[in-house]
Amino acid sequence: MPKVRFISPLQDLTCEVAKGTPILEAAEIAGAQVGHSCGGVCACSTCHVYVRQGLSSLSEQSDQEMDRLDQAFDVKPTSRLSCQAELGDADVEVFITEESLNAFMDENPDVRKALLAEGKWPVKK
Ligand code: FES
Repeated sequence: MPKVRFISPLQDLTCEVAKGTPILEAAEIAGAQVGHSCGGVCACSTCHVYVRQGLSSLSEQSDQEMDRLDQAFDVKPTSRLSCQAELGDADVEVFITEESLNAFMDENPDVRKALLAEGKWPVKK
């Protein structure tokens, strides 16, 4: 089973999931702060992550995912929509984009409020 490591300025979490699991689902299992405004149906770009390791092991990008990524912020060659990228056999390491982290906080105001109180949000650049 592949391991997925999620890194952001706020978290560094790893979980192990079955091959074929979308990265977004792994994020939910790990407790990683990945936004997902459309619920994982490729209708937004808030689940945008950078795949730092294991990119070639993921499922192929569909035309629909590429079209959606065109609307994302700061797209790189390692960009994937985590709801569309399914794990292969290899371990994967992803960095949660600023766009996705901001979306997660919008979707989880209680988490944002707690981080604000701790002085951890917004993230200092
Ligand atoms: S959650 Fe909307 S495209 Fe992935």
